[in-house]
Amino acid sequence: MRTQDMVMRFRDKVAFITGGAVGFGRAFAKALAAEGAAIVIADIDGQSGCASAQALEADGHAAIAVECDVADEQRVEAAVAAAVDRFGGIDVLINNAGLHLLAYNQPFGALERQKLRELFDVNVIGIVNCTMACRRSMAARGGGVVLNIASMAGHMCITPYSVSKLAVRGLTIALATELAPDSIRVNAISPGLMATESAMEHLPQTMIDHIINNSQLIHRQGEMRDIVSAMLFLCSGESSFITGETIKVSGGYPLYL
Ligand SMILES: NC(=O)c1ccc[n+]([C@@H]2O[C@H](COP(=O)([O-])OP(=O)(O)OC[C@H]3O[C@@H](n4cnc5c(N)ncnc54)[C@H](O)[C@@H]3O)[C@@H](O)[C@H]2O)c1
Repeated sequence: MRTQDMVMRFRDKVAFITGGAVGFGRAFAKALAAEGAAIVIADIDGQSGCASAQALEADGHAAIAVECDVADEQRVEAAVAAAVDRFGGIDVLINNAGLHLLAYNQPFGALERQKLRELFDVNVIGIVNCTMACRRSMAARGGGVVLNIASMAGHMCITPYSVSKLAVRGLTIALATELAPDSIRVNAISPGLMATESAMEHLPQTMIDHIINNSQLIHRQGEMRDIVSAMLFLCSGESSFITGETIKVSGGYPLYL
């Protein structure tokens, strides 16, 4: 493959990224735009979503922001329709929007049912809403790619958040099976401890140090480039024989058979 092709793997592709205003989502948008994709940022925070899209446009990329709560089926349908209207279709969907960290990392007995419903509505049903809404457009273009953002928490399952991310791993297998006839691949990434603003803000330094020094095999904190390179691989043709898979990007934490 020529170098020129290597760095423009997403030329003429359209990527729909939920929660693309900040954190992983914003980094995904930037990396995909740099390789030629037109970007749709679908975020419940319309103002920050617009700022992210404008920053991409200022760098010469095609990008729009649509304000959208992934838990709301109608709003998701409208956001996807707006994206198709603007760019002609969708090739890549990244189900990244998620409620996470401390508020949902407490025992089921301590979390109000309303908060529990909110968590599953966003982290689980949100993925179903977005995937179903994008399916027709992807199928019409001959196929597509869906990438779900799970979590290492979903490999341990001791809190409501963990269980929602276990469901994301299950959904990845179920949706890969259901969408295969339309040539749509569905995979997931389980990030470990990553240096995003929200993670750094919520986690105590002692916990961060403990995970890095005692739990990981690679003793450094995960950085944005670690998850971005895994995302680019799973969303590109380089992973064309991989579907229904969840890849851990966690410095070897935890490993088991
Ligand atoms: N940061 C980490 O270390 C880490 C580790 C494992 C998994 N994850 C997962 O990665 C994903 C992104 O994490 P992050 O740290 O970048 O998150 P973040 O909190 O920094 O950003 C999340 C984005 O999603 C948007 N969002 C929230 N609810 C939404 C909704 N209902 N509809 C649409 N948009 C919504 C927010 O406005 C925000 O822009 C999440 O699914 C999270 O569970 C993160």
